[in-house]
Amino acid sequence: MNSRVAIVTGGGSGIGAAIARRLAADGLAVAVFDLNGATAEETAASIAAGGDKSLGLAVDVTDAAAIQAGVECVRGRPVILVNNAGMTPHGPFLEITTDMWNRSLEINLTSAFHCCQAVLPGMIEEGWGRIVNISSSSINTGPPQLASYVAAKSGVVGLTKVLAREFGPRGITVNTIPPGFIDTPMLRQSEKGGLMRVEEQESVTPVGRIGRPEDIAAACAFLVRDEAGYITGQVIGVNGGRNT
Ligand SMILES: NC(=O)c1ccc[n+]([C@@H]2O[C@H](COP(=O)([O-])OP(=O)(O)OC[C@H]3O[C@@H](n4cnc5c(N)ncnc54)[C@H](O)[C@@H]3O)[C@@H](O)[C@H]2O)c1
Repeated sequence: MNSRVAIVTGGGSGIGAAIARRLAADGLAVAVFDLNGATAEETAASIAAGGDKSLGLAVDVTDAAAIQAGVECVRGRPVILVNNAGMTPHGPFLEITTDMWNRSLEINLTSAFHCCQAVLPGMIEEGWGRIVNISSSSINTGPPQLASYVAAKSGVVGLTKVLAREFGPRGITVNTIPPGFIDTPMLRQSEKGGLMRVEEQESVTPVGRIGRPEDIAAACAFLVRDEAGYITGQVIGVNGGRNT
């Protein structure tokens, strides 16, 4: 895997940071894109401190031109893309404005469209590529107050399936991991917003603990390997058995 280059979006925090660190540990050069350039650089610096190759960049994944500019800064051709950046706007359905709805779709769905368009031509030229889209287990249950988020993350699953079929003949696999209850700043933010209490969820999780960012990173690390080449268009749930 040594010469391969990966891009991880939203890699400045939580799940994305764990994915970036794990892919680097597995021998990939990793470009970390995040809206927050300082945290992207922190993740990259922690990887570089361990002797692996990494670059952190401030990239807003809702901005197609910024993504293209980011891809051009990356040394080598990115053949692995993890679309992980996201946010969870929550609130009563009847209070969602058109602007709020559109912004949520831009961040949680259209961002993956832009990033895939930016890297797919290079993957096609290489005749090899791996895309992992991070969706959400909330698409199975549709929790109240999360309409725009659940709609967007459901769209990520559809996008994954279409791209898998369209680019499978080019040696490119596309899968989605819907995380379920992973302890990250995003989850703690939802707790602060009164949506649930994190520790209370342990008892309703079959494996008896809350997920860790490294749980998602492990699944992602497998999906980007050569040996996962027969897995594409799939939804690989990582949720401690909360959704079966
Ligand atoms: N934590 C969970 O339990 C959980 C469950 C289901 C799905 N997810 C999904 O996993 C992904 C990662 O979530 P997390 O829990 O690590 O959250 P997090 O808030 O810790 O990290 C999200 C990162 O995305 C970045 N980001 C947000 N908007 C961006 C933009 N426009 N451009 C570039 N970067 C942007 C943020 O700056 C942040 O660093 C998200 O897509 C989220 O929807 C998380």
